[in-house]
Amino acid sequence: MNNFSRRKFIKSGVSGSLLLGLPGSLVAGYPGTADHESKIKVGIIGTGNRGTWLMRELLKIDDVEITAVCDLYQDRADRAVSICRDTRNQNPQIYSDSKNTWKKLLDNGKLDAVIIATYWDSHAEIALYAMENGIYPGIEVPAALTVDDCWQLTETSEKTNIPCMMLENWSFRRDNLAALNMVRLGMLGEIVHSHCAHSHDCIDHWFFDRNTGEDRWAAEYLVRYNRDQYPTHSVGPVLSWLDINCGDVITEIYSTATASKGINAYMKRQFGEGHPNAKRTFSQGDIVTSLLKTKQGKTIVINYDMQLPRPYSNRWMLQGTLGIYDEEKGSIYLTENSPRYHQWELWQPYEEKYLHKWWEEGSDGGHGGTDFIMLREFINAVRVKGPVPLDVYDSAVMSAIVELSGISIQKNKPVPFPDFTKGKWKDRKPYFGLDKIA
Ligand SMILES: NC(=O)c1ccc[n+]([C@@H]2O[C@H](COP(=O)([O-])OP(=O)(O)OC[C@H]3O[C@@H](n4cnc5c(N)ncnc54)[C@H](O)[C@@H]3O)[C@@H](O)[C@H]2O)c1
Repeated sequence: MNNFSRRKFIKSGVSGSLLLGLPGSLVAGYPGTADHESKIKVGIIGTGNRGTWLMRELLKIDDVEITAVCDLYQDRADRAVSICRDTRNQNPQIYSDSKNTWKKLLDNGKLDAVIIATYWDSHAEIALYAMENGIYPGIEVPAALTVDDCWQLTETSEKTNIPCMMLENWSFRRDNLAALNMVRLGMLGEIVHSHCAHSHDCIDHWFFDRNTGEDRWAAEYLVRYNRDQYPTHSVGPVLSWLDINCGDVITEIYSTATASKGINAYMKRQFGEGHPNAKRTFSQGDIVTSLLKTKQGKTIVINYDMQLPRPYSNRWMLQGTLGIYDEEKGSIYLTENSPRYHQWELWQPYEEKYLHKWWEEGSDGGHGGTDFIMLREFINAVRVKGPVPLDVYDSAVMSAIVELSGISIQKNKPVPFPDFTKGKWKDRKPYFGLDKIA
């Protein structure tokens, strides 16, 4: 039994067992308490903020051993080793002598899985190498920056038979999974439309140094490109709500961007007119709006919104023939359930009632416990050498939006969206969050 499952959590609601009785067994199994003689050996490449965070979550699972860590900076790798020693008495080997040292880690590490939390430009290359070496990659977002690399990920996973998962954590959120249960019960009717956003002001900390306004590594993308730089957290849950790659497929994307005002304005406000980033030309517009169409006549609107001052929001909205769910309002309206005609009611009771099985025990840790649930399910797949909870086709679709939105903005017209399943979407059954995986 893992550390986590020993703890006592109060189950909120009746929904897990209730849902197990529903057609098609709508919720997933949890084999995490099986006894295992051998440890699951995991390597971490990129022990910066996110890689360290994920490593801490993995250390909560009894049969996980962190056997290797790798970073460009020795002190970050050293810090990761100290955490492993202090929390679980584990002693991972350090790889830190060059930009390509991760190859040695994958060659020598005898790993079952690797977490890739490096800068964006190396995600796909490392994941491909991992699969070629029989290692499950768990890739931070986005899994790839180009459509070509997305194809390579899907085709290499098919060729090597090694599942590949992008660690798109918001797909595992408690509210989003409850909404998914309700979609699968038909409570919103036939789904036709969804809106989503990544509304997160990252100018004041993630793209630039908080204290100096100097570039961090991702700032160069804002100089060079105008596109949805970070679409995965917004569109992640939408893919399963809309059965993308499992009965439907995205056919087209049309993106448009506003002017770029937010970064210069922030730098001027915070550091004065003389700051180099207050006058610099950034290609990246403040708001990117992408419209995606599907073969079965659904639409998705995605907003990139990471450069203007605002509270965090994902603004998920989901609409079907029987109702509408609005995450930002914390509200839902179901024509066959809601007590008052065309009036919103509170979402929260629905989230409790239709709680997904993955959340039955509750969770703690990063992002309200969502990161642990995601990693626990990833490790459950690695442990049995089975399919990962979020597959390579969905990872490719989410990541391809980065490059395709930029091409569409540049051409000022819609561009075709590749079918990474090569037609398999017609027969593939929904899998995300279910017992049986197509
Ligand atoms: N899912 C989420 O909620 C979430 C949150 C934050 C960041 N992220 C993602 O995590 C990734 C890392 O972001 P971060 O904020 O941790 O950045 P960071 O700068 O804190 O960490 C990245 C680390 O990767 C290391 N690195 C880069 N290239 C490397 C290479 N070739 N070999 C070894 N190490 C290498 C760097 O030295 C650095 O320590 C990004 O892809 C980002 O988009 C995801």
